[in-house]
Amino acid sequence: MQTRITELFNIQHPIIQGGMHYVGFAELAAAVSNAGGLGIITGLTQKSAADLANEIAKCKDMTDKPFGVNLTFLPMLSPPDYPAYIKAIIDGGVKIVETAGRSPEQYMPALKDAGINVIHKCTSVRHSLKAQSIGCDAVSVDGFECGGHPGEDDIPNMILLPRAADELEVPFVASGGMADARSLVASLALGADGMNMGTRFIATEEAPVHENVKQAILKASELDTRLIMRPLRNTERVLTNEGVERILEKEKTLGSDIKFEDIAPEVAGVYPRILMEGEMDLGAWSCGMVAGLINDIPSCKELIDRIMSEAESIIRNRLTGSL
Ligand SMILES: Cc1cc2nc3c(=O)[nH]c(=O)nc-3n(C[C@H](O)[C@H](O)[C@H](O)COP(=O)(O)O)c2cc1C
Repeated sequence: MQTRITELFNIQHPIIQGGMHYVGFAELAAAVSNAGGLGIITGLTQKSAADLANEIAKCKDMTDKPFGVNLTFLPMLSPPDYPAYIKAIIDGGVKIVETAGRSPEQYMPALKDAGINVIHKCTSVRHSLKAQSIGCDAVSVDGFECGGHPGEDDIPNMILLPRAADELEVPFVASGGMADARSLVASLALGADGMNMGTRFIATEEAPVHENVKQAILKASELDTRLIMRPLRNTERVLTNEGVERILEKEKTLGSDIKFEDIAPEVAGVYPRILMEGEMDLGAWSCGMVAGLINDIPSCKELIDRIMSEAESIIRNRLTGSL
């Protein structure tokens, strides 16, 4: 299958593994890229630019296929040294960067001068158009279903993707709620050039997370995610657990007076203990509604091969056959 995304990134299949904090290590990125998709290392999971340089080198040892690095621009009191991270990406010879969070505008000259293709992940048509206008090569359009930060507009992909298709000139992938061949074919039908998956890639053999995390995804249904931090206008879709229910209780009790410090015990710095140590009730970790569609733990290659062969069958048999 060839689309503008496979051509832009020089990959075999139009499937991207989105950056994921404490999931997107070299092992997963390399496995996805080796399977013909685009694997992405999560930049900020690496504590320093030097650590990121090592992770990039490790990934290069594990694959000779293209892979990317995610840079998430978060509102932080003491922001990470982004220019140093970008230098590590450029020096490491990485040619694809997935940006997310705030607009990457101020870093675009450095990235483009180094010949890097930038795909910006955003949750609205207006942010997608802004990304296009500042020179991003592609957009990852993240619907309300997505694991992580869906923004504050709450537009599901059934509406958001055709809206993006109507407005955008650069290629885009559908992100949020994508799990299988049906997701891919639907994304293409709605105007996208491929799909980006987060949660689905956590439940794979190569995802270097604790087994409890994978089992939690398998056990979850589409009813088991919650939206937290809405009162702080930093909404995150997470899998429910005791820690998450405590957050929601605090949000209910404190109302608009709530501050980040009130929920910090369940939110700040909990990722390593949840994703690495498997302490599943500790607090909030991003997870999509798509957990309801995930019932196995294949290798990345098995997953991607299955998606591509079933997509072909849906297009050739089910769709063509219905005409
Ligand atoms: C555990 C987890 C951590 C994530 N961390 C990040 C991150 O650090 N930066 C980012 O841009 N997106 C992050 N995401 C979002 C994913 O890249 C992707 O956009 C999202 O998972 C797509 O929705 P899906 O889970 O329904 O596939 C994360 C998602 C998950 C599930």
